[in-house]
Amino acid sequence: MCIVKQAKSVLQANDRGTYTVPNDKLYPYQWLWDSGFVALGLMDMNEERAWQEIDSLMMGQWDNGMIPHIVFHQPHPTHAFGASLWDVAHPRVPTSGISQPPILSTIVRKMVESARDQKLAHTMLEKMVDSLFAYHRWYHAWRGLSKGLIATFHPWESGMDNSPAWDQPLSRIPRDYLEAYQRIDHGFAVEMAQRPTNDQYDGFMNLFFYMRKNRYDAEVLKQAPFRILDLAVNCALIRADKDLLNLAQRLNRADMIHPIEDWIKNAREGFDLLWSPEHESYLSYDLLDGAHIPVTTSASFLPLYAGCADADKVADIVKTLTRWMDQVKYSVPSTNPADPLFQENCYWRGPLWININWMIADGLRTYGFDALADRIVRDSLDVVESQGCWEFFNPFTAKGLGADNFSWTAALALYWNHTAS
Ligand code: GLC
Repeated sequence: MCIVKQAKSVLQANDRGTYTVPNDKLYPYQWLWDSGFVALGLMDMNEERAWQEIDSLMMGQWDNGMIPHIVFHQPHPTHAFGASLWDVAHPRVPTSGISQPPILSTIVRKMVESARDQKLAHTMLEKMVDSLFAYHRWYHAWRGLSKGLIATFHPWESGMDNSPAWDQPLSRIPRDYLEAYQRIDHGFAVEMAQRPTNDQYDGFMNLFFYMRKNRYDAEVLKQAPFRILDLAVNCALIRADKDLLNLAQRLNRADMIHPIEDWIKNAREGFDLLWSPEHESYLSYDLLDGAHIPVTTSASFLPLYAGCADADKVADIVKTLTRWMDQVKYSVPSTNPADPLFQENCYWRGPLWININWMIADGLRTYGFDALADRIVRDSLDVVESQGCWEFFNPFTAKGLGADNFSWTAALALYWNHTAS
């Protein structure tokens, strides 16, 4: 089947009317950054529906401004990881209690700029801009634990849930909070070798139960036993702050412009902390250890997406990226292929992810590395064309891994197809 037809049919099958599920079995609710990427892809199919995707996410926004990483619009009969497990009191719709990489303002700006229906885009932007601003303000106010940078309190907030970067910080946390739980990924026809081990999962759940016990209270979580300045999340927010500034300027929202400018300036000043001269790379930083996490992942290329890589460091980033690309057939692997922790088939430990490729390619173009960006887009479309819309892919063989019929893979394939035509 041609890639466009295939991608559209995946998005249609995962469409629940007002929102899209990432996958109907493994992820049968609305996820935050998934829906951001999905909305971009939907712009090619139905602009009104694309805007609705973001609007549905915002239904889950908390009074303090947080946009949660899962919105449970409808219960699911068999999925154990649902609203009742999270146990969040919300006036409109059940949600999870944490967030995910804040890409929404970036997505909304791209939607505004590419919309054929500018009137609708303007109406939706006016409707959404206060929610976006409140979301960014929540991040800066409640997660701003280091000058200009924000902290992440659970691997699930990073979006790169099973990254080897989290092994060490998770292993230090006593398993005091762990309660009995059921793994959701068992029995969904996903090969378990591609998923986290039981021990890794216990680590995630232990921290989850700690957060739930504390009612996800933003003040209490400042003392969370997992406090990371996550490189990818910070890059996503810095980029999104810049895009939100652009959106606020379009609407002449002087009340927003000054605070956003301050956030950007502070982050720019604080960002140097994430550079490790020893690794010649930007890395995440463990606040409890007071040290960089010495595992290089695909997050190390995202300072280009954020547009905040120092000129003298851009060359190092591109050198590392090129070296990784030369070691695999399909780029970009999620972990350094030379690292002993690299696993070519396992969730966030080696395979390539289409959404991260989209972010890396976007950043490369900003810095003028169009040929490298083209190569990444070509690899991404090649793996989708040969395998279908999988959740992630083996970087040597292209084999599709994780969940099949995966929405953001379909959406970004459509986006690239559309922007290239
Ligand atoms: C996994 C991924 C996360 C994604 C979610 C839904 O948990 O790690 O990034 O948002 O699945 O697709």
